[in-house]
Amino acid sequence: MEPKKMSTTRMKKMKADGVPISVVTAYDYPSAKLAEEAGVDAILVGDSLGNVVLGYESTLPVTLDDMIYHTKAVTRAVSGPLVITDLPFMTYHGSLDTTLSNVARIMREGMAKAVKLEGGREVAGTVEAIVKAGVPVMAHIGLTPQSLHQIGGYKVQGKNSEQARKLLDDALALEQAGAFAIVLELVTDEIAEQITKRLSIPTIGIGAGAHCDGQVLVFHDLLQYASGAAPKKFVKTYADIGNDIRKGISEFVRDVKSRSFPAPEHSFHAELEIAGLYGKDSSGRE
Ligand code: KIV
Repeated sequence: MEPKKMSTTRMKKMKADGVPISVVTAYDYPSAKLAEEAGVDAILVGDSLGNVVLGYESTLPVTLDDMIYHTKAVTRAVSGPLVITDLPFMTYHGSLDTTLSNVARIMREGMAKAVKLEGGREVAGTVEAIVKAGVPVMAHIGLTPQSLHQIGGYKVQGKNSEQARKLLDDALALEQAGAFAIVLELVTDEIAEQITKRLSIPTIGIGAGAHCDGQVLVFHDLLQYASGAAPKKFVKTYADIGNDIRKGISEFVRDVKSRSFPAPEHSFHAELEIAGLYGKDSSGRE
């Protein structure tokens, strides 16, 4: 059966109906396919790609070409979930023309269904212009990793009333600008609840408590598919595939070293006459 297609309007209706929205990041064909088979509503091709796949320390080195390359693999894999792609660092802060042509490449080449960008009121004009061009925009406030150096680290946002007020104002401005949903990253439960109540568009939380309309986690975090990454308080791990992979590969290495792989059932054998050339019959026996 064809999976049910998710759209931005369906996502908004899910909020209205009180149906929680599940979002996971994915960056390639198999991870996206598995996410779809598992029933996610949306897939985010996040620029967390930089940290969890490309080995960078932050999202800043990720390029537009990186995002397009990975979005292509994801959109080839899925037909049901809404695929949203991050606009990487500094690709939406220049002229509007440049921003729109970057967005166009993600949609046309990557075949994403929507883009996500980070920032509050200061990017509301950009959100409005992209939406006017016909492209759905997911906003992202709170801890915005592209501004890591300005924020001064991975800190919880919205702890004091001034920060909380700003987050709420930003969320309202982004909704007003036409965003179809908004990611709340690493913000307090209290402000996430307030924002969720005040907006008619869905809030998708990551480290933002239980009151959001939906939740997003990074594929590699929720499945423990990372080498040496420190555990994060807001992540629940649902599997330990990193360990399974390490165990599988180490068993392969052991079998190669002990010559127990390949076993006879993994080998191919020549026809009798040809095998005769090598002094063997067709079963491979001497
Ligand atoms: O890049 C990403 O994966 C994200 C999520 C953490 C929301 O922006």
